[in-house]
Amino acid sequence: MKDVYILAIESSCDETSMAIVKNGHEVIALTILTQMDTHAKFGGVVPEIASRMHAENITMVLEDTLKKANMKVSDMDAIAVAYKPGLLGSLLVGLEFAKTLCFVYNKPLIGVNHLIGHIYANNLEDNLEYPLLALVISGGHTELAIMNGDYDFKMLGTTLDDAIGEAFDKVARVIGYPYPGGPNIEKAALNGSNTYKLPKPVDDDTYNFSYSGLKSQVINLVNTEKMKGNEIRKEDLACSFQTVAVDELVRKLSLALDNTGIRNVVIAGGVSANKYLQGEIKKECDKYDAKLYIPRLLYCTDNAAMIGAAAYPLYLRKDFKDLSLNAESHADLI
Ligand code: KG4
Ligand code: ZN
Repeated sequence: MKDVYILAIESSCDETSMAIVKNGHEVIALTILTQMDTHAKFGGVVPEIASRMHAENITMVLEDTLKKANMKVSDMDAIAVAYKPGLLGSLLVGLEFAKTLCFVYNKPLIGVNHLIGHIYANNLEDNLEYPLLALVISGGHTELAIMNGDYDFKMLGTTLDDAIGEAFDKVARVIGYPYPGGPNIEKAALNGSNTYKLPKPVDDDTYNFSYSGLKSQVINLVNTEKMKGNEIRKEDLACSFQTVAVDELVRKLSLALDNTGIRNVVIAGGVSANKYLQGEIKKECDKYDAKLYIPRLLYCTDNAAMIGAAAYPLYLRKDFKDLSLNAESHADLI
């Protein structure tokens, strides 16, 4: 079969990224331009600034990606773009750019769900085998699903309130660590111990998650200690929060391993970059003799290579979009 080259575009949040991916598995070129330093000054992503920066940089990112691959847009078999979920203004920059390329170069357009992109990131270095338990843990999502094949999902559970990454970011802010909170909590926790007693988020047998109660507990604890004039042991609090937050994921995953008998597990999304989390999930998978897929750090956080990987099965089934495709700020795996 002829090789398939997909030019993929990702602009859902604060990274402008493009990649050329061959046959859904091989990264020929990848460029990621992060705006993190700019947003860090504001303590979080400012949507208006994010979309403006995407618009300013996207052409440069294309040039850079084509140069790295020594290829032209006309060499591509399709253009793929993350069109949901994310910041609407940011998504629209990538989407309109993708549509323009498709129009000018007469290429098929592939619309990719960013969350599904995080799962397919694992195909860049490995080969996902089904059935699979997929745990998507990012800034906006905490979802556990069964995947019986390409794009064949059955939802098991989701968060009832905050996403796990959101809880990491908010807890970091209240403890006093800068944006992005997740990696800073992880770093701080390395020097701390689990000495603050925080309650389990949801103590039930569903596959649902809840992180707002845990987050509120940390906020209350910090405020109470401040009022009493006590110092917070920041590293210990970071470690205690991380332990409880990760325990909850492990507990629900373990329930799914027990009930479904599935022995392939994938973790996906920005929070899967957390090494403590990776270790705990790995230990649980080992208990069940289950295979665990974890993307390498570069592919854990937002990047266009994962969009190219997720676009490939859609290319094979000719699941193309027309130029009326619109961006959607909210979306789940299904
Ligand atoms: O997938 P992602 O890059 O963007 C979204 O699609 O949301 O995920 C971003 C989230 C943020 O909440 C960030 O704090 C979290 O992933 N994150 C981490 C780590 N690295 C990123 N959380 C915990 N530990 C990390 N090392
Ligand atoms: Zn993401």
